[in-house]
Amino acid sequence: MEREGKPSAISEVERAIGEALLRWYETRHRDLPWRRRQDPYAIWVAEAMLQQTRVETVIPYYEQFLARFPTLRDLAAAPLEEVLKAWEGLGYYARARHLHAAARRLMEERGGEFPRTLAEWRRLPGVGPYMAAAILSIAFGQDIVALDGNAIRVLARLFSFDQDPRRASGWRQLQQRAQRLLPAGRAGSFNQALMDLGATLCTPKSPRCSECPLQAFCAAYAQGNPGAFPVRAPRRALPHYDVTAGVIEVDGQVLIAQRPLQGMLGGLWEFPGGKAEPGESLEDCLRRELREELGIEVEVREPLMTLRHAYTHMRITLHVFRCRIRSGAPQPIGCADVRWVPIAELDHYAFPRTDQRIVEWLRQEAPSLLTRWTTDQSQT
Ligand code: ADE
Ligand code: SF4
Repeated sequence: MEREGKPSAISEVERAIGEALLRWYETRHRDLPWRRRQDPYAIWVAEAMLQQTRVETVIPYYEQFLARFPTLRDLAAAPLEEVLKAWEGLGYYARARHLHAAARRLMEERGGEFPRTLAEWRRLPGVGPYMAAAILSIAFGQDIVALDGNAIRVLARLFSFDQDPRRASGWRQLQQRAQRLLPAGRAGSFNQALMDLGATLCTPKSPRCSECPLQAFCAAYAQGNPGAFPVRAPRRALPHYDVTAGVIEVDGQVLIAQRPLQGMLGGLWEFPGGKAEPGESLEDCLRRELREELGIEVEVREPLMTLRHAYTHMRITLHVFRCRIRSGAPQPIGCADVRWVPIAELDHYAFPRTDQRIVEWLRQEAPSLLTRWTTDQSQT
């Protein structure tokens, strides 16, 4: 492996792959309007339009846009409204605003001369790593691979690449391996060949491997599992906790507590409760939490609902119970504040997603619930 230190020499296979790809591209490339143009401005406009939009959709807009703004100077001189008008229907208007702002900056700061390095391109509004590499390779012939989603799929299959290219380290490695396949001086065709191959033959669902110029080299084809690439890293298994919350209602008002201002969900309101300790029953947990948080002793009554929720770093199951105060008056001991609030006014308070669902449920059920709870309160 050449992971550390000096990269090893390009192998025969790597050379053959690059050549097979270019040979295929010579006869099979898609005839697209930006491929008939040489100037960097026209290629830049194409890449901006293609960024989140399909080739077929882009073509008519592209022709009209270049007819209207044939050069960088014309674009920079145009009012933004006109540029947005020409973009109308393509969507993602930030692309148009960025393109326009970048054109003005290039005119003002460089007299309309285009940058020649990745770093300089990246400093322009709207230009990311892919776009900078695409423009430098296609318009200026620099030996830089530019990997869009289609190219990434082809390469991941070719190498049966075992990492997730959406992760930074996977992307970097795939890019390095692709760079080794690139025949010097041919980056524009090489990059667009990978894009075309991914768009036409090496498609996500049913790749047409029998027509593919890379079949003889393709590891995924040899294994019979192109569909398995690119791999998606399994989402990290998140720790799971059982959490309890109590709904305490007296005379149509319910008790809510404000979370400590620092820390997770800081300052939001919730139905008081907390995380169960290992081995602790849900009822014990709720009694303990309300004692610690509010200084009250409660009787835990029937379960009201069970909610599941995933945060970025953990999953919880929230067990909601009705409770009744046996003794004590609620004090904000382990929380920032505590209040009695009529059910109809709960929406004046900010709740985390889970507690919002309890609020919704309470509001919907309120009329029948309160009648039922009142009767069984008077019976006990
Ligand atoms: N998608 C983004 N850039 C492209 C290009 N130059 N050719 C085809 N599809 C593309
Ligand atoms: Fe994609 Fe099949 Fe070609 Fe491999 S052989 S690159 S899986 S189309």
